[in-house]
This record gives sequence, C-alpha cells and structure tokens, in this order.
Amino acid sequence: MIILAFESTCDETAVAVVRDGRTVLADAILSQADMHALYGGVVPEIASRKHVEAIAGLTDQALAEAGITKKDVDAVAVSYAPGLIGAVLVGVSFAKSVAYALGVPLIPVHHIRGHIAANYIAFPDLQPPFLALAISGGNTLIVDVKDYTDMEILGSTRDDAAGECFDKAGRVLGLPYPGGKPMDLLAQQSQGGKYDLPRAHVSGCELDMSFSGLKTAVVNLAHNAQQKGEKLDAAALARDFTRAVSDELVPRAIAAAKQSGRTVIAAAGGVAANSIIRADLEEACRREGIRLYLPPLKLCGDNGAMIGAQAYYEYLAGQTAPLDLNAYATMELSEATF
Ligand code: KG4
Repeated sequence: MIILAFESTCDETAVAVVRDGRTVLADAILSQADMHALYGGVVPEIASRKHVEAIAGLTDQALAEAGITKKDVDAVAVSYAPGLIGAVLVGVSFAKSVAYALGVPLIPVHHIRGHIAANYIAFPDLQPPFLALAISGGNTLIVDVKDYTDMEILGSTRDDAAGECFDKAGRVLGLPYPGGKPMDLLAQQSQGGKYDLPRAHVSGCELDMSFSGLKTAVVNLAHNAQQKGEKLDAAALARDFTRAVSDELVPRAIAAAKQSGRTVIAAAGGVAANSIIRADLEEACRREGIRLYLPPLKLCGDNGAMIGAQAYYEYLAGQTAPLDLNAYATMELSEATF
C-alpha cells in the first residue's frame, strides 16, 4: 500500500511517500527554521504562509523522487493534531483536496504517534508492545505503546516540553533558534559540574515531569550574570542544563518500563537527537537489561515519512476520516481515534 503523507504542524513542510508503513520511497522536507530564527522562535502566521507556498511543490518533488505518479497513490495521510493551528490547517486542507481529487482514503495521524512510528522505518524488527519516550519541541511524553494504535500515556510534562526548554535556554545563551542542536554542540565542549540546576519532582505522580523551573533557573542565571557584568561559562551551563533534562527523562523512562513490564524502549522526537540524552539512555538501558531503539537523527525531527508509517497502521485499524476532517491545536495521543 502506497501512502502519500503530509506534515505541517510546526515549521517543517514535509511530504513523503511510504510503502506498507516501513519503506520510505521519498521524504521531501523544507524547513523554515532560518526564517523563524530572525525572531528567536516560530512565528505562527509566517509558518502557515510558508507551508502554503511550499506544499504543492514538495508534493511534486516527493512523487518524482518515489518514481510514481498520482494514480499509484493508494491513500493520503496527514498530521492533523497537535500543532500550530494555522500550520496544521494547511496540511489538512491540502491533504483533503488531494484525497478527494484522487478518490482515495484520507488517514488522520496524530503527530506524536507519527514521531513514535519513525522507529518502524528505522527498525524493521520493532513491533509493539514497547515503551516510547516521545520528546519534542511541543510534547514530552512517556507512552505505553500496547499496539500500533492502542497507546496509553504513563507520564507527561506538567508544563513546558523538553524541546521548548532547550530552545529557551539556547536563546538566553545567545544561540540561534532552534536551540537544541547548538546547545548539544556546546555541551560537548565541557564536563560541566559548575551550575547547580533544579530537578523537579511531581509529588504523587512519579512519572510526570516539569521543565519550567529549570528553564527559569537558566534564564535567571543569565540575567543575573548580565546585570553584574559577569561572564557565564556557557559550555558548562549547557552541559549542566542537559544533564538536568536527562535526569528528568531517563530515570522516568526506565521506571515506566519496569512498572508496565516492557523490556523495550524506543525514543522519538527532536530532543531524542541529543547526544547526552542518547548516551544516558543507552547506559541506563544496558544496566537494566532493556532493549533500546534510538532512531537516526534525521528521523528524530519532524518529517513526513513518520506520518506515512503510522498512517499504514491507522488504516489497518480502520482509522480513516471523512472529508470534513478538522485540524486540532491540542489532542491527547490516546484520543486520536476515528
Ligand atoms: O520533533 P521536533 O522536530 O518538532 C516537534 O514536533 O516539536 O522537535 C523540535 C525540538 C526543538 O525544540 C529542538 O531544539 C529540539 O527538538 N532538538 C534538540 C536537538 N535537536 C533538535 N534538542 C536537544 N538536542 C538536540 N540535538
């Protein structure tokens, strides 16, 4: 089954062609990050307009790359939630029109389910059940993936997402948007151990996380240093910050796996590209005898292939949408059923 998949929930316009949920025939992506970097973060209105400009051309590019024509497409998939509403609407409207024009089913895909499914592309042997650590710019979730379309959230952030925290910390350190990758590179230049940053604990909900206190601590450190005319050791701060984020994520992922009896963890989302978090996950999983799947860096960030991968399993589960499908800014991944 050949699925043409669309992703436009934030600042990447992506169109992919995926066969049977596992084989990527084309994955065309246009990132707007440089444009938003001028403003230090994503400007929703600009994101929507850029998606409109890019999506048709990327579709032609993806079909050409896959070596197929429109009539070879068996179904159309789209990331319909969660995300910046104007941005998501562009992908949903375009996908609906393509599905209508081609007379093929329309498959709605929850964006985070897509991130998790990136692992199906990278690891042909991976099958549910497993535990997913989904860490991106807008979401931070520990998910029990019981089956391809049956998922339960075991833990989540109570406030900011891990990626947002990286981006804000990067901004106060004067790094370009998005801050995650530059923070990663900076952190690799130091052993840290210089800044004492907070680790949050959500009383009574051991698997929930919080990043807003950590974000505020870094912002305050930077502002205090600025006011006193002192210079921060940016590399040490990046390292200590990343260690604090990792301390929030990794032990909870392990605890969740133990609680739910899962012996496999799959990481997902842009923050799963972080070299320190990857190393910490590897070490913890080795120690606990848990099998770890870490997707290659290019499948961690937003892409269309992951939407096409999840769409295949949504389709097999009977999850197709009528042509009045709407876009949603927020939606729990366990709610994403039709
Ligand atoms: O999954 P993603 O591309 O988009 C969303 O669905 O949100 O994640 C983007 C986030 C950004 O916050 C970005 O700074 C972060 O992933 N990120 C990283 C790294 N690469 C990207 N965070 C930490 N370390 C990285 N190497």
